[in-house]
Amino acid sequence: MKKFTVSTSTPYDILIGHDLISQIGEFLKPVFSPRHVCVITDSTVNGLYAQVVMTSLIESGYHTSKILFPSGEHSKNLTTYSNILEALADEGLTRSDLILALGGGVVCDLAGFAAGTYMRGINYVVVPTTLQASIDTAIGGKTGINLLGGKNLAGVFWQPSLVVCDSKIYETLPNDILLEGIAEATKNAVIAEKGLLNHIRNHNYEYVIERCISIKKSLVEADERETSLRQLLNFGHTVGHGIEKLSSYTVTHGQAVAKGMIAEARGAYALGLTPNDISGELTDILNEFGFDTSLDYDAKAIYKLALKDKKIRDGHINIIVPDSIGKCTLKKLSLPELSELIMLGFNQI
Ligand code: GLY
Repeated sequence: MKKFTVSTSTPYDILIGHDLISQIGEFLKPVFSPRHVCVITDSTVNGLYAQVVMTSLIESGYHTSKILFPSGEHSKNLTTYSNILEALADEGLTRSDLILALGGGVVCDLAGFAAGTYMRGINYVVVPTTLQASIDTAIGGKTGINLLGGKNLAGVFWQPSLVVCDSKIYETLPNDILLEGIAEATKNAVIAEKGLLNHIRNHNYEYVIERCISIKKSLVEADERETSLRQLLNFGHTVGHGIEKLSSYTVTHGQAVAKGMIAEARGAYALGLTPNDISGELTDILNEFGFDTSLDYDAKAIYKLALKDKKIRDGHINIIVPDSIGKCTLKKLSLPELSELIMLGFNQI
């Protein structure tokens, strides 16, 4: 088993190893003496992993309960969030109790937001069940929900107390779910480490997870509340979130980020922000990994949605510009420049 410690305002460990969820109760014990643990999960993960997690918790002396919601991005809304808060109150959870988020990105975001706001914040532990959640959502303490106006528009920074990544789970992930993680891993390759691409090609997921966690850990430690360097992790997301919203979330997050990375890289080059156009090479890589790289969207509509990007401050936005695959920088653009970058990214100028 490997252990990373994330040195944020409240430090916590990330454990990575094989078949860890069946011992989750034992991993919790050094951090939390037996108490009420409320497992929050979705309808898909419930049938796969909830039983083994609950059994382990009970065997380790914890009192358990479970809150369940329908799986999918459509659940990441105010209604599910308020249902979870009411259920926590009905269960009688107190500030000395614990939430355990068991699931993919949507579960991590929702359960983390509930943990960060119920009784003004209680502890939570994350057991991610997808590659995407393990290398991205589960770590760094970004929590939240979508509003009608856009993706992730309500939320809090609230760091977990422990993250437990079970590599056995990745062996049985359906291909479409695996691809969601491969999109984020490819993003990490572009922003920080080109060598990751070969490990993705070779399905060397244990290494991919460790390196991606390490990259994210460094950025989160340097900039916990995303005022500067952490923004690098948003490469492809300004356009990607727009594509997700425009498609009413029928295009998944990973698929949308894949398209967003191509458009943002192409737009940055066309706008003269970088001497190198990586969009062709990146498109080939993403095609090879199995992504749909078509960009048939109305660039003006994407720009309108991009105006909701949380990186916008004082009429400017930091855009992530790839200088090469493996090295990106942040460049500050005015909103008219952002509009031009997006139009150029979609070849609509
Ligand atoms: N998902 C990007 C971040 O956590 O900053």
